[in-house]
Amino acid sequence: MDSLAAAALQARENAHAPYSKFRVGAALEDSQGRVHTGCNVENATYGLTVCAERVAVLKAISEGVRSFRRIAIAADTENLTPPCGACRQILWEFCGDIEVALVNPRGKMETLPLKTLFPRAYDRSFL
Ligand code: THU
Repeated sequence: MDSLAAAALQARENAHAPYSKFRVGAALEDSQGRVHTGCNVENATYGLTVCAERVAVLKAISEGVRSFRRIAIAADTENLTPPCGACRQILWEFCGDIEVALVNPRGKMETLPLKTLFPRAYDRSFL
């Protein structure tokens, strides 16, 4: 299996998802090949829950990284889990049209450009 997919599956093990029990992992590869991981972190208020993808992106940004190649997103579903709308917006802001690899623990994987998941994005070009 692709090492970025493996890193996303491994990050999923750290998910804090006591409410939904839906565990997600993400692994974001930067332009130097370094990998920044994240998992979903839920909260008793529900609304303060943060998705795995946003954790990975914001960890990397807070370390000063600004250029990315691809992200792998891991969840245990047969119909591979795509990023939610909020995560698509954050990914577009910081990563642009990167490759998004959706994976599950049984080795199923599908890769697609973010633009196909998030057409006609609102971004800084409108400001
Ligand atoms: N979740 C993610 O972390 N990423 C996704 O792409 C979809 C949803 C999380 C949020 C929440 O903790 C749980 O999955 C159920 O929605």
